[in-house]
Amino acid sequence: MIKMGLIGLGKMGQYHLNLYDEINGLALAGICDTEAARAEAIGKKCSTPHFSDYKKLLPLADAVTIAAPTKYHYEIAKTCLNEGKHVLVEKPITTNYEEAEELFETAAKKGLVLNIGHVERFNGAVMELKKIVKNPILFEARRVGPFNPNFRNDSIVLDLMIHDIDIAASIGGKAEAVQAMGSPVNTSLADYASVNIFFGGKLSAHIISGRVNQTKERFLNVTQDDALIVLDYTNQDINITRNWQTAQIFGDKALTYKNEFVQERLFVYKENALKAEIKHFLSCIGGLSEKITSPEHDLASLKLALTIDSLLLKGRYGEVVLN
Ligand SMILES: NC(=O)c1ccc[n+]([C@@H]2O[C@H](COP(=O)([O-])OP(=O)(O)OC[C@H]3O[C@@H](n4cnc5c(N)ncnc54)[C@H](O)[C@@H]3O)[C@@H](O)[C@H]2O)c1
Repeated sequence: MIKMGLIGLGKMGQYHLNLYDEINGLALAGICDTEAARAEAIGKKCSTPHFSDYKKLLPLADAVTIAAPTKYHYEIAKTCLNEGKHVLVEKPITTNYEEAEELFETAAKKGLVLNIGHVERFNGAVMELKKIVKNPILFEARRVGPFNPNFRNDSIVLDLMIHDIDIAASIGGKAEAVQAMGSPVNTSLADYASVNIFFGGKLSAHIISGRVNQTKERFLNVTQDDALIVLDYTNQDINITRNWQTAQIFGDKALTYKNEFVQERLFVYKENALKAEIKHFLSCIGGLSEKITSPEHDLASLKLALTIDSLLLKGRYGEVVLN
């Protein structure tokens, strides 16, 4: 049984907490939030020790989940790793590449698991996608929704786009060039962005993310040599179109077109992605699973997101060729 401490009891922290009862091998050790009244109310409801200082929670826990605001991730994760705790930290791990690198080095030195809460990695459709992508040409993601003031301290890149950047990098590998356009609307940081990433070979990614929209949309199209893969993140669905053929039919009075194609709807095993992420963390701690992504991938994916973020910080448009 792994004793889990939960740090940060806002929206994301409470999503984690609500799943703990359903997960074998996890015992809640205690919870923490700097808002003492919130920690107390939730602690009483869950009959678990509650603290407003996370350091007091650490002696009770083998592992912690950090769901505090992003700007505190580095400091909290560093302390927890130095105290010998396995860490699951919400995305983005940090807003600084060197700090993330240091956290991974510390975890490796101490033989601890350090996972990032990139929940989309555990989306059943994304897991299936990895098995069917072959020779991709174009990766087009759209992730938009209404404004959520919770994230006013993170740009749209670190708030939402980071999920698609991470998935694109897991398919495309090393990025060679990036173009980014975006603008602040509701905050002082970019609230929407349109980004092109060139991965070399023939793969490019085009990602649109926004928190200025009236509808919530989460889609991904992958065009490859022999298929168009359409992925719906929300419903965890994948549809594939292959062998598209168009024929022109010359009739007496009109020219008509006939389109023929094969459409497959994939069977996707749908589990709650956050639950799968927590189970994977426990499994890594128990030595039963390898981390789903390597620290090298995690760092490269963060670096790409931070590069895009910094292009937008410089202005509404930027591009860079990467080494
Ligand atoms: N994986 C995802 O899809 C996803 C989705 C939403 C949020 N997140 C991430 O989760 C993190 C939290 O986001 P949220 O929406 O839950 O924010 P939130 O503001 O709702 O909650 C943060 C909570 O942390 C508490 N807190 C602040 N400083 C603390 C500290 N030093 N120690 C303990 N508690 C502290 C706050 O009082 C608040 O209750 C962010 O990093 C965000 O990027 C990830």
